[in-house]
Amino acid sequence: MQNSSKVNLQGGKTIGFVPTMGALHRGHMSLVRACREENDVAVVSIFVNPTQFDPSEDLDKYPSDLDGDMTKLEEAGVDTLFMPEEASVYPEGFQTSIEVKGLSEKLCGAFRPGHFDGVATVVAKLLNMVYPTRAYFGAKDYQQSLIIRRLAVDLDMPVEIAVLPTVREEDCLAMSSRNAYLSADERRAAQAIYRALANAADRVKEGKRDAAEINAFMRETLQKEPLITEVQYAGVYDPNTLDDVADIKSEVLLAVAAKLGDTRLIDNMLVKGA
Ligand code: PAF
Repeated sequence: MQNSSKVNLQGGKTIGFVPTMGALHRGHMSLVRACREENDVAVVSIFVNPTQFDPSEDLDKYPSDLDGDMTKLEEAGVDTLFMPEEASVYPEGFQTSIEVKGLSEKLCGAFRPGHFDGVATVVAKLLNMVYPTRAYFGAKDYQQSLIIRRLAVDLDMPVEIAVLPTVREEDCLAMSSRNAYLSADERRAAQAIYRALANAADRVKEGKRDAAEINAFMRETLQKEPLITEVQYAGVYDPNTLDDVADIKSEVLLAVAAKLGDTRLIDNMLVKGA
């Protein structure tokens, strides 16, 4: 595997790309596997992007395991690990920020101001640096993937954005680097997030159409857990615009963001009404 700080264009070959912030778990590795299988060249980046963390967030304690990551990527047959220096992503005088209006302000955007501008800007930069045929993202970060799809269309980026299903732990908690911050008790309490989503999804599939009822049910499930200290949002949303839905007629997004102490977790499910 080539360890590169700059990736060259590969004439005539398809290039698959998985951007990450490292501390690779099974969720990342499912993207890496698809990337390896579907392209001639497989590139993975590790770059902990400072501009998507706000000052109160966990940039300094963001998990890192470079040796472990490199072993996993070698074993997965990745061709290039791209680890740009912060100064090459944001050189002196850097002034540009990409804002995908509307989508970036909803759900997580309302609680993490500027976060999606940081994501959109770094993803645009990484796509321009690696110039992939396909780039892979996880559905756990549904809003992020919607924003990146919009960005790629709006900026005529010649890249296919692939969004792959959420990978879950054995107790159904969505894989996330942040799961490592949970105590054993918090880990048990966090299962309420999946429970809220899965039981709400069953209700939607059974034909319940009143979103207010589903929203109340999801909040109640989460708020019963004393270790869930804050429910930032929990409810039924339009899967394209992320707007609130009142009457469930077609496919909807069920989504949650909740905090257990300092750890903020998100999860979601797409579900079709009966
Ligand atoms: O999902 C992530 O890990 C990050 O937001 C990404 C896409 C690598 C951009 O920094």
